[in-house]
Amino acid sequence: MSELAEPQRAALIAAARNAALTAYAPYSGFKVGAALLFEDDAIVTGANMENASYGLSLCAETVACAIASQAGRRGGLIAVAVVGGLAGMEGPPVTPCGRCRQVLTELAQLGDTDPLVISPGVVENFEMRLSALLPHAFGPSNLG
Ligand code: THU
Repeated sequence: MSELAEPQRAALIAAARNAALTAYAPYSGFKVGAALLFEDDAIVTGANMENASYGLSLCAETVACAIASQAGRRGGLIAVAVVGGLAGMEGPPVTPCGRCRQVLTELAQLGDTDPLVISPGVVENFEMRLSALLPHAFGPSNLG
């Protein structure tokens, strides 16, 4: 699995930061942006969208995956950047929640990739393969 070139990494993080500006997070005040990088260099972004029925809120990563799917993308996912924080201020790295790890895994396994997950933080940066964030994942291959 090849490393990400620095300009590509910077562009992906910038896209996630821009996406975070579009978050609808009136309840938590925690705005998150996610950016998905595909093998054809396309970047698809998403932001969290909360709901008055709190538990129905959608995470940025899940929104990005749904948008990618709607655009016909069924694989080719090579990297993911996630940024966010309270009141638009970035703090510790935002790593995908459990549900988002599973949703990202669906897209990854469809194209047989293991995307790099990049979560920049003010003090330290987090970077890990999706398979390390969700080991022994249940995925499409389990069903056929
Ligand atoms: N959130 C995300 O969008 N992605 C994550 O990986 C972590 C959490 C959102 C959900 C909710 O709208 C807010 O951040 C606070 O949990």
